[in-house]
Amino acid sequence: MMKTIQYTFIGPIRQAITMANLPLKGALRDEDLEIIQEAGILLKNDKIHQIGSYWDIFPEAQSIGAEMVNLKTDFVAMPGIVDCHTHICFAGSRAQDYAMRNAGKSYLEIAKSGGGIWESVTQTRKASLEKLAQLTAQRANRHLKDGITTIEVKSGYGLSVEEELKMLRAIQLAGESTEGDLIATCLAAHIRPRDFEGNQREYLKKISDELFPILKSENLTNRVDAFIEDTAFSAEDIQNYFEKAKALGFDIVVHADQFHVGGSQVAMDFGAMSADHLEASTEKEIATLANSDTIPVALPGASLGLGVGFTPARKLLDAGASLAIGSDWNPGSAPMGDLLMQASVLGTFQKLSNLEVLAGITFRAAAALGLTDRGSLSSGQLADIILFPTADYREITYQQGRLKPSMVWKRGERV
Ligand code: NIG
Ligand code: FE
Repeated sequence: MMKTIQYTFIGPIRQAITMANLPLKGALRDEDLEIIQEAGILLKNDKIHQIGSYWDIFPEAQSIGAEMVNLKTDFVAMPGIVDCHTHICFAGSRAQDYAMRNAGKSYLEIAKSGGGIWESVTQTRKASLEKLAQLTAQRANRHLKDGITTIEVKSGYGLSVEEELKMLRAIQLAGESTEGDLIATCLAAHIRPRDFEGNQREYLKKISDELFPILKSENLTNRVDAFIEDTAFSAEDIQNYFEKAKALGFDIVVHADQFHVGGSQVAMDFGAMSADHLEASTEKEIATLANSDTIPVALPGASLGLGVGFTPARKLLDAGASLAIGSDWNPGSAPMGDLLMQASVLGTFQKLSNLEVLAGITFRAAAALGLTDRGSLSSGQLADIILFPTADYREITYQQGRLKPSMVWKRGERV
C-alpha cells in the first residue's frame, strides 16, 4: 500500500520567528532574530517542508493540493515550546509545606524534619500506576494547551526499585494519552528514602545494580538525574552511581547548586547534558559552566515557589554560557507549572532580551535534552508550531504568560 502524504499550508502569518541559525551559547540580541513577515509554512506529514514568504510558497502548496489553513487575522508563529525540566508525575499536594515556608520554615528545614520530597513520595507510592499516568497526562495536556509540545518528566517520588519502575512506566503510559512528547528521566537519586536501611551509597548501589538494567531492557529512559545537596547526595556519594550510569550509556543530568554549590562541578566532571537550578552558583561556577558543553538550566518556577533569588541568567549568558529555562513543575518547590509566565518573569528580573527568553524555551531547551529535531522553524524540523494571536512577537514575553497560543500543531497534527 502506498503511504499517503499529507500536506498542510498555514498562512499568511504576520510574523514567523524562526529561531533558526542562532548560536547555542552566549548572549542574544533581539536584532539577531530572523523574522519572516507575511510567512507561510508548508507541512509534509509530521515535518516542516518549507517556510518562507507566503506568496512564494502559495503556488506550490496549491498545486500539490495541500490542505489550506487560511489565517484571517494577525498571528505570530514560533516553534513549539520545550519544557526541559519537570516532575509532573506525582500524586497529592504540598500545600502544607507552602504554609509552613511562609510561616518561616525553610525548604531544607522542612526536608530535614521529614516533610518535603518525602511527603510526595508517601503520597505518590499510594497511587496506582494507572492513576499516576492519568495525572501526568492531565498535566501534560494543560502544558500542551499553553504551547508546550515537548515535556521532560522525572521520576523521583518512588525511591525504591519497584516504585521508581511504577513511575517510569506511568510516564510511558501517560504518553499514550497526550499528543505532547514526554521525555522520561530517572531521578531515583532524589533523596535517600527514609525507609531504606543503609546509607546514601548503599541506596545508590542498589538502584544502579537493580534498576538501571531494567530501564535499559524496558527502554524506559536514557537519562539519569541526581540531586546534589546537603539533604540529598554529596559529590562523593554520586561518583560510582554516575560512573555506572555512563558506562551503560545513560545521559547524565544534575540538580545542581540550588542552595549550596558543588553540583555544577559534578555535572561538568561527568559531561552532563545539563546542570539545572544554579541559584547559588557564584562567579567561579559561572565561568566554568561557560567553558563546558553542559547546558545551564534556570528554573524560575522554583525561585517563585520558594521565594528565593533567581538563577544568575544574565551573568551566565554574558560569560558565554548557554541558558535553557524549565518550569520545574513539581508539588513542592514549583507547583505553578506555567513556563511562559515564569520565563518572562525571569527575563524581567534578569534583564534578558526577548530572544534570550524565547531561545531558553525552544532550541536551547531542546539541546538540553539532546534533541536536534525541534526548537526552530526550518525545513526538516518537526512540525511543532504554535500561533499566538498578536502582530508583534514581543507581546509574547511582554504579557508575561497571559497571552496564550490560539493554535498548536504537534508533529503536523492540529491539537
Ligand atoms: O527541582 N530540588 C529538588 N527537587 C525538586 C523539588 C522536588 C520537591 O520539592 O518535591 C526541584 O526543585
Ligand atoms: Fe527539579
